[in-house]
Amino acid sequence: MVLVSAKEMLEKAHAGHYAIGQFNINNMEWIKSILVAAEETKSPVILGVSEGAGKYMLGYKNVVGMVKEIHDFLNVTVPVAIHLDHGSFEGAKAAVEAGFTSVMFDGSHFSFEENLEKSKEIIAYAHERGISVECEVGGIGGEEDGVASMGEQASPEECGIIADLGVDFLAAGIGNIHGKYPDNWAGLNFDLLAEIQEATKGKPLVLHGGSGIPDDQVAKAITLGVSKINVNTELQLVFQKATRKYIEDGKDLVGKGYDPRKLLAPGTKAIEEQVIEMMKKFGSADKA
Ligand code: 13P
Repeated sequence: MVLVSAKEMLEKAHAGHYAIGQFNINNMEWIKSILVAAEETKSPVILGVSEGAGKYMLGYKNVVGMVKEIHDFLNVTVPVAIHLDHGSFEGAKAAVEAGFTSVMFDGSHFSFEENLEKSKEIIAYAHERGISVECEVGGIGGEEDGVASMGEQASPEECGIIADLGVDFLAAGIGNIHGKYPDNWAGLNFDLLAEIQEATKGKPLVLHGGSGIPDDQVAKAITLGVSKINVNTELQLVFQKATRKYIEDGKDLVGKGYDPRKLLAPGTKAIEEQVIEMMKKFGSADKA
């Protein structure tokens, strides 16, 4: 089966009041764990690739090739989209050309007029090729792969204008932050989320910074129109914890415990388990 655009799966999620996870990938272990978890839970899934991770994995074409091969090797039957995360204008076009099935153009650091113009061009370019598009209004707080934002709160009016361009789903800053949430975090701004959903006339909304948000806030965000939740840091943390334990327990020193296939196995399994748990929490399990 081929990789699919994220449009249909997110429209179904929006209508069915659940969310699909976008889980960011870094290498072969990440791709394998996430696809195994999706197949096991019978959940649609979006594999997210930041521009930095794309370079780390030696280019978008290589990423698409790896995902396709692993997908087929594992006989994955659930819908899988490969999506550029926080793409630049040139990056979004390059990802489409390399075979990504979905792209985000993040013009939130430009003036609204420039964001609008560039979003329009990427939407036309991607839609001609059957690729879904996410745009962003109002920055997401924190820092991801060198892209930093103070986390403005999006203007519902601006969200409405971008939605009218025909974007497939929209990321809007509502107090969410990439990376770990600080102890004094104020939480998601649900009044703003409700206003944005109204202004965008029911467009599927995207919640970035999906690591570490309390379950009750995730559930409420889904009821208010969030249909895609992006998760990166949480998978990095479970991988780190399991790998650290393996080494601290001295397992790398026993027999051939230094074999990378053994060394990376606990972290890989930890990612798989975390993704399964999150797919159940987001309500996407058994929706493939
Ligand atoms: P976290 O790293 O906080 O999970 O955020 C991921 C994200 O929003 C990717 O765009």
